[in-house]
Parts: sequence; structure tokens; C-alpha cells
Amino acid sequence: MEISEITERALKEFGSADTESALEEAYNKYLSKKGEISQLMSQMGKLPKEEKASFGKAVNDARNAATAAYQAKRAEIEKKKLAERLEKEAIDITLPAKNKNIGHINPYYAVIDEVTDIFLDMGYQVVEGRDVETDRFNFELLNVPKDHPARDMQDTYYLEGSDLLLRTQTSAAQAHTMLEKEVKTPIRMISPGKAYRRDDDDMTHSHQFAQIEALVVDHNISMANLKATLELFAKKMFGEKREIRLRSSYFPFTEPSVEVDVSCFACGGKGCKTCKGTGWIEILGAGMVNPKVLEACGYDPKEWSGFAFGVGVERVAMLRYGIDDIRRIYTDDVRFLKDYIGK
Ligand code: PHE
Repeated sequence: MEISEITERALKEFGSADTESALEEAYNKYLSKKGEISQLMSQMGKLPKEEKASFGKAVNDARNAATAAYQAKRAEIEKKKLAERLEKEAIDITLPAKNKNIGHINPYYAVIDEVTDIFLDMGYQVVEGRDVETDRFNFELLNVPKDHPARDMQDTYYLEGSDLLLRTQTSAAQAHTMLEKEVKTPIRMISPGKAYRRDDDDMTHSHQFAQIEALVVDHNISMANLKATLELFAKKMFGEKREIRLRSSYFPFTEPSVEVDVSCFACGGKGCKTCKGTGWIEILGAGMVNPKVLEACGYDPKEWSGFAFGVGVERVAMLRYGIDDIRRIYTDDVRFLKDYIGK
């Protein structure tokens, strides 16, 4: 009979269709509207009445069988396709990773971060200074009046026709911190930032550089407190074996004043290239806050005393990382960062 012959063929073709397109082709051939099985229905009209019911049932059975075969095959092909895709898209974790070229923090910020951390641990506050200052805060309040010879060493950029200048030292932040306190309370602060001076045009000076200012004001602060603080700082920053040496010096805003050396961390004090054979390296200026400065900033020197110091950031960075030319710190050469700090 025609129906069973068509069904047999349809099942065979669905069974052997191995690709999606072959399966679709078979579908169109048998099950679509114009397909052979669907077309069988159109013969119904010609049949005698008593045969119609059994013919209709036979055609329906044929359609159901063919549809089941089609769906089974479709599921098989989908499964195969998925397996192929999973295999193709699998991530091979044995491949070597791409080497990302990551940068490194600039020595300028590396030093500031490190020093800041050390003083935060000791209970200091970080105070933000300002790059543009007035003559009053940069000089006068710090006991450097207009005709003071110390101004010679700190020539800077002045804004013509105004009182404004680019600050020559972060010490200006000392005066701000003291004056801003309406009620005079103890101070423990550090203030990192930039300072500007006329360029000396050699490999160790630059028209712009950074300092970290520190100021402590309290009752009964003595030189011993300053020395102990600096000693702790030197050991934390440069290693437990470091020692410090205080040499007397002069700054208008501190009295007495000292320059502070650290025993050379390259040779341990024997003398080498880094310390120019002396065994010591100068890292900062310091001293007891001059009573005149305390007074000008509203702290009664009979009641209060304090110490201050200023660390040269680039100087510490150059020594710490063995950098030969200060200008390298401000250029954006990634190789420099790698060579000096990335190790
Ligand atoms: N401001 C001084 C300088 O720039 C350093 C300093 C700061 C000295 C605080 C004493 C106290 O050279």
C-alpha cells in the first residue's frame, strides 16, 4: 500500500539524514504542507465513504511516526552540534598567559607614601599646603623679613604686581597650621608637597622639587624629642642599622638648627660612592621652632615649644633608588621606573 511505502521511505530518510540540511530536506519532502505525507490527505476526497476513516487514521499514524523520527533525529543532531561547539570553545588553560606590561609608582610618590605612612603611625596628621603662597607665609611669618640674606638662597617665581609667589619651601605650611588654630592645641603634622626655586641647573637640583615638612608643637618639647623622632624615622625608612648624626646649621625659623645625616645605607658607614666617601648622607634640615615664629603664629613661646624639619623627597628617592639625574624623576620613561624601582 502506498501509505506504508511512503512511511517506510520517510523513516529511512530521516534516519540517515546526518546533517541539518539533509534533515530539513527530508522534512520538506514528507512533512511540509506540500510533502508526500501531507499530500496523501488530498486523496481522501476520491475515496468511497467507508474507507475514509481508516485512510485518515493510517495517514495520521504515518505522520506521527515520521514526525517522531524527524524529532529524534533533530535532537541527535543538536546534541552533536553542542558537543562539537563545546570542544571547539574550550579554554586551553595550559596556554602561557599574556604578559601585561604594568607600570610602577613614580619614586616621587613612592617616597611620599612611605614617609607619610611612618608618621601616620606615630599619630601625625597630614596637612595639605598650597603651591602659591604669599610673601607673608613663605617668609615673614617664618622669621625671614624682606631684607634677610637667607632670601638669596631661595629666589623664586613672583607674580608681578602682587604679593603672590611660588613657595620656596613647604615650611609655609607650618605657619598656616599654627595660625589656623583658633584655640591653640598641640600639633603633630606632616605636609608633603612641591616647592620651587631658581634652577641651579645641575644634575641634583631642579626648579621644582618636593619636600615633606613636619611640625610638632606641644608643651615641653625638647631637642631630645626631635632626635628620637628622627632616629625612629631613619630606621623605619632606611633600615634598623641606620644611625643619625646632627650637625649644627642655620635656618631663620628654627633655633637651634641642625642638618641631619643618616649613616650610609649603601656601605654601612665605611665610605663609598653613594656617600662620597664620608659614610654619611644628608637628608634633611631641622631644628627647634624659633620662639619668634611661635609668637608670630599665635603660640605663646613661654608656654609652647616645638620642633620642625623638612625632608627633601627627591634627595631621598635618588639615594634610595640610586638615581643619578634628578630630572629622570619627572620624565615619563617607563624603562626608568622599571630599572630603578620595578626590581
Ligand atoms: N625649609 C628648610 C629648607 O627648605 C628645611 C627645614 C624645614 C629646616 C623645617 C628646618 C625646619 O631648606
